[in-house]
Amino acid sequence: MNKRLNVLSITLAALALSAGSLSAADVDKSIEMRQSYMQLIAFNVGIVGSMAKGKTEYDSTVALQAANNLDLLSKINYQSMWPEGSSNTDYNHTRAKEKIWSDAEGFATKHTNFANSAQNLVNLADKGLNNLRVGMKELGGSCGGCHQGYRTKK
Ligand code: HEC
Repeated sequence: MNKRLNVLSITLAALALSAGSLSAADVDKSIEMRQSYMQLIAFNVGIVGSMAKGKTEYDSTVALQAANNLDLLSKINYQSMWPEGSSNTDYNHTRAKEKIWSDAEGFATKHTNFANSAQNLVNLADKGLNNLRVGMKELGGSCGGCHQGYRTKK
């Protein structure tokens, strides 16, 4: 293995470890990334949500594009954005609860619920406003389902 690859694999190995072995700057980056990730999700939910509420006109092409984006976003491997030791008890600028790590399985289930409803929305988004609304209701529930247990209130 050449030197460059070695450095890369060491860096990747470090990422897989807990935040205890990460510098505060690295943890900052992870927190910033996951909040940006949520913002990307929220941006796309906003597009279809606004149609579902009748605030913008239903457009099957645009709705399907947003649903496809959500589906893609739900498939990103998110592990490195949530290093252990980066909860709101460790850092002020995050609303991530310690429970994300003490109940990692529960957190993963909530993420899977989100991924499943994003996939379902892909099937429904371009099939008329009523179908979009059905898909959005389920998707919205999956956001709240995770936030309720794993994110602190503002
Ligand atoms: C598996 C759990 C989970 C799911 C599913 C989830 N979220 Fe989040 N979300 C979180 C957590 C935890 C935070 C707090 C992150 C932090 O502050 O470090 C968060 C933060 C956010 C934020 C604030 C980001 C910021 O800039 O601080 C928004 C907006 C958001 N989520 C929107 C959504 C929407 C919309 C959905 C559903 C389509 C969703 N989330 C699904 C766990 C989740």
